[in-house]
Amino acid sequence: MQTLAQHLQQQAIPESLTQLLLTLADTSKSISQAVRHGALAGILGATEQENVQGETQKKLDVITNDMLKDALQASGHVRGLASEEEDYVVPVSDAGEYLVCFDPLDGSSNIDINSLVGTIFSVLPALQGELTEQSFLQSGRQQVAAGYVLYGPSTILALTVGKGVSFFTLNPDSGAFLLTQDDVQITKDTAEFAINMSNQRFWEAPMQTYIADLLLGKIGPREKSFNMRWIAAMVGDVHRVLCRGGIFTYPTDNKNPEKPYKLRLMYEANPMAFLVEQAGGKATTGYQSILDIQPEAIHQRVAVILGSANEVDTCLEYHAEDY
Ligand code: AHG
Ligand code: MN
Ligand code: MN
Ligand code: MN
Repeated sequence: MQTLAQHLQQQAIPESLTQLLLTLADTSKSISQAVRHGALAGILGATEQENVQGETQKKLDVITNDMLKDALQASGHVRGLASEEEDYVVPVSDAGEYLVCFDPLDGSSNIDINSLVGTIFSVLPALQGELTEQSFLQSGRQQVAAGYVLYGPSTILALTVGKGVSFFTLNPDSGAFLLTQDDVQITKDTAEFAINMSNQRFWEAPMQTYIADLLLGKIGPREKSFNMRWIAAMVGDVHRVLCRGGIFTYPTDNKNPEKPYKLRLMYEANPMAFLVEQAGGKATTGYQSILDIQPEAIHQRVAVILGSANEVDTCLEYHAEDY
């Protein structure tokens, strides 16, 4: 089986990008170790701090953020980094050619129940000049690589460098990431959706109607039965979509009018949209492709609808209707 390093050598990408991706993969191995030790390592539970999102940070949010920050600062290839757990962008090395945005631990609410969590990352080219928040505000189309690591029953890295999507499984014996699936393709059609149904009353009319029609099953306009799944960690839900198709959405809602969206553009929506498009799927807000959004702030949030191309298209038809 091909190792991640061997696979990257064949991709005709700059050596500096290969080294950066290997650094991210190596750090994820350490994170995987920490996650596995759980309560034995005293790493479960919350801290008393809040992040810039207004969320109480879990101990593992902080630990994994520090692990990635330390590794990226030591790599020599990173100009600056941005993280869900850092209020401001962090300048790293003047010589670095890349900017890295990451969600060090996605699915924080799953930590204390020993359920699925992961790490999501996005790599952008560093531009000339002083490093500011503005340097990061490039559309998702500018990403040169993106991926996630899922700390599940096995640890899996999903990666794209813009030439399709590959899965690598961590061999816990040798510590190597081995290529276990190349050219991942999302099925065009699906009968599975993922949404937090408890927010139903807060959604916009198009999403209300779309989901209501899915729930009607064979007697509704869709004329087929749909199944529902919700892992409460975007990494897990997107991984399922990549594996067997589906539509995943965290749509606009008016539960808190000041925060109509939940997921963050730069380190959740953009990397996942890049992976999904590279696997033949679609990713949209309902009105615009995620990857075409011109970011305005590093912690900006967006509505996300992604997955099987034909199902996302159907959902878009509801959004094009006049309600
Ligand atoms: P994070 O743990 O990085 O803050 O992200 C959590 C996100 C995302 O992973 C998931 O899809 C969503 O929050 C779950 O939201 P609910 O709590 O509404 O289910
Ligand atoms: Mn997250
Ligand atoms: Mn997180
Ligand atoms: Mn969080």
